[in-house]
Amino acid sequence: MMREEWKRRRELVEKTLEAELDAPHILDETLGKSMLYSLMAGGKRLRPMLLMASADAVGGNGDDYIKAACALEMIHTYSLIHDDLPAMDNDDYRRGKLTNHKVFGAGMATLAGDALLTMAFEVLLRQKGVSDSAKVRIVRELSVAAGPNGMVGGQAIDLESEGKRIDCETLYKMHMGKTGALFRAAVRMGAILAGADEDSLAALTHYAEQFGLAFQITDDILDVTGDEAKIGKPVGSDERNQKSTYVTLTSLDEAKKLASDAVTEAKTALLPMGERAAFLSELADYLISRDH
Ligand code: IPE
Ligand code: IPE
Ligand code: MG
Ligand code: MG
Ligand code: MG
Repeated sequence: MMREEWKRRRELVEKTLEAELDAPHILDETLGKSMLYSLMAGGKRLRPMLLMASADAVGGNGDDYIKAACALEMIHTYSLIHDDLPAMDNDDYRRGKLTNHKVFGAGMATLAGDALLTMAFEVLLRQKGVSDSAKVRIVRELSVAAGPNGMVGGQAIDLESEGKRIDCETLYKMHMGKTGALFRAAVRMGAILAGADEDSLAALTHYAEQFGLAFQITDDILDVTGDEAKIGKPVGSDERNQKSTYVTLTSLDEAKKLASDAVTEAKTALLPMGERAAFLSELADYLISRDH
């Protein structure tokens, strides 16, 4: 069931993103093109999927929260544009296409990232059918997750750890920040939008944290074992940049085991929600088998 649901929702996300970025709305034509280039380059749309599936899990309908889901994808895409910049990971391919700065230059790529980050909040606030107080809560979730105590903080640890051997605790903090925070926000935002009670919100938060951890460990594994044509970004980027990852700090086998343990724990957290959490459960299973 998941594949069709994923495809249908991915199309919904893409249609909505495209409409939001409709060129005449953007002051500078090149900026608009640069934003759209990375947004529409493909991508699994995992964070929107999680937001919607989390709303389903507490009795809502994820489709109703499409603008919030798109806001998350805009922030995620901005983080990728900046992550690939010459001053950061200096990668030439992303989502199977040249990176944003390779096409538009580092200056415009920086601005496209800034613009996606800022515009995400505008799109989020246009989410319909939600009370103002719920909107305030989700704006807070997203801004904390994207900021210095979330994604950007984790990226800073990543940058400072290049060429150094860091300990497992620092690595865990880095993963939870650079990758975990947006997944956590995705799941919590979906739950809050659909009116989850505190117990469900806590269970879903636990799910999301384990999901995020498993996801980044798998990303580290794929950087070593992946097929460039499938993952759409360069293999060996971490080694080239002397990054500390779960693979370099433990071993390939140990990293695989840690990812699979995290998936098991994520799925266990869903048990109280029963069948309604089936999509979330399948998304967690997908993490172990993914090849891109
Ligand atoms: C890649 O995220 C960046 C990380 C957080 C590791 P995804 O693997 O979700 O990238 P897309 O959106 O599918 O391209
Ligand atoms: C970056 O992690 C995650 C964010 C963009 C926040 P990576 O540097 O490992 O991501 P990839 O492998 O380039 O997608
Ligand atoms: Mg990076
Ligand atoms: Mg990178
Ligand atoms: Mg990586």
